[in-house]
Amino acid sequence: MYIASTAVVFVELVKLLACAGMIWWQSRSWRSGLRTLYRETIRQPHELLLMAVPSAIYAVQNNLLYVALSNLDATTFQVVYQLKILATALFSVILLGRRLDSNKWQALGLLMVGVIMVQLHPTTASASASPKPSSAAAAAAAATATSPLLGFLAVVTACILSGFAGCYFERVLKSSDSNIWVRNIQLCMSGVFFALVAMFVQDRHAIASGGILQGYTNLTWAVIGNQALGGLLVAVVVKYADNILKGFATSISIVLSGIVSYLLFGFQPSFLFLLGTAVVIGASLMYGRKPSTSKENYEKRA
Ligand code: C5P
Repeated sequence: MYIASTAVVFVELVKLLACAGMIWWQSRSWRSGLRTLYRETIRQPHELLLMAVPSAIYAVQNNLLYVALSNLDATTFQVVYQLKILATALFSVILLGRRLDSNKWQALGLLMVGVIMVQLHPTTASASASPKPSSAAAAAAAATATSPLLGFLAVVTACILSGFAGCYFERVLKSSDSNIWVRNIQLCMSGVFFALVAMFVQDRHAIASGGILQGYTNLTWAVIGNQALGGLLVAVVVKYADNILKGFATSISIVLSGIVSYLLFGFQPSFLFLLGTAVVIGASLMYGRKPSTSKENYEKRA
């Protein structure tokens, strides 16, 4: 087994390199790319500090997910983790001033119920259809139930932190015209720092005896690449759509991975899975429906 905290460091480094690559690609010159980086990071310590907030929260969240998965079985974890959908909506209202009518709240509630139904299928099949938890650290955790209450508290706190960090990041991205890749580099710089601290605190003895790359295989690098790409995609989704729509996208991806597992790996969907799929699709359509204006209501009644 590889050491999970080392993988988190590599995820941050891969993201950092990818964002630097995007800045170079946009400016088409190393010189002006490096100048932009210098201007936006070293010369802007307050901006770095601003981005250190979500970065620290994501670091805590990722470690809480590790605690949660170590103390809860995978299904309970996935079910409780769906509270993230409501936490995100709540912070969208508080931090972003978004107004959600009752139709949208109902759609979000339905979405949560639908995802929970999809997750509640027999555990033998769940390995292929459930999404992986959102951090390399959590992905590496063993699912041996030891203290369910601690696991439950960890996952609920992770939901609240996820909602807050996501909406905070969205607010920063949308309230200024700064470049999305620059913002991500600012996020990654403190991310690398927090990941290194976590690695040192948790695993310095293991690393000292077996090396930082012990247990690494090609699959580990694939997981790292996947987590890095996933993190950057989160940023793009938050910039061009929003955190609530991200929740719908992730829920639909759970359904899609069930369908792919059915087609490729012989996963047998239960009745609850099919019902949950219908509820997720229904909730997405309901959320996307435009509220009818009073004029339309009048015409409908007429
Ligand atoms: O579960 P949730 O959607 O909150 O997870 C978001 C994940 O995306 C976190 O693990 C965070 O580290 C990652 N992320 C990222 N880069 C961003 C925003 C989020 O890597 N710009």
